[in-house]
Amino acid sequence: MSRQAKILFVCLGNICRSPTAEGVFRHMVAASPLAGKLTIDSAGTSANHIGQAPDPRSIAHAAKRGVDLAPLRARQIQASDFERFDLVLAMDDANLKRLQALCPPRWHSKLALLMDFGGEENEYEVPDPYYDGPEEFELVLDLVEAGCAGLLEHVMETQK
Ligand code: 4NP
Repeated sequence: MSRQAKILFVCLGNICRSPTAEGVFRHMVAASPLAGKLTIDSAGTSANHIGQAPDPRSIAHAAKRGVDLAPLRARQIQASDFERFDLVLAMDDANLKRLQALCPPRWHSKLALLMDFGGEENEYEVPDPYYDGPEEFELVLDLVEAGCAGLLEHVMETQK
């Protein structure tokens, strides 16, 4: 099948931002002509939350927008991900730098920020909401929705 069909979202813990992106993108893709055609996953650069469900606050805020994160479980990025996935999208600059350090040079063109696809959003990072309040979790969803909408358009173009 065609290019850029396998997409991995990456943050630090894989319990707040990247599972939110995985859930939002799955939800958007399911309602698009690409339904069933993409591989969508998420991972963390740290090992701190392996096996855990997303943060209850992320689950609750996503549920208000009709996105179910509850079945997701955290995992850490592994070397084989850089070969397996077509796009590996970091939520922020710190995690993009971690990915650049882990990724073999021949796969570096697969690395980017999710917000590179965010169009008119001025933010280029999805900020870590872990130590913040409800507004930050809503901001994560707003930014992730904008990034994922642009990403879906991009992937649709590559599938033509
Ligand atoms: P995430 O958020 O990278 O969006 O999953 C965080 C989750 C946990 C921690 C930091 C950020 N932590 O320090 O435990």
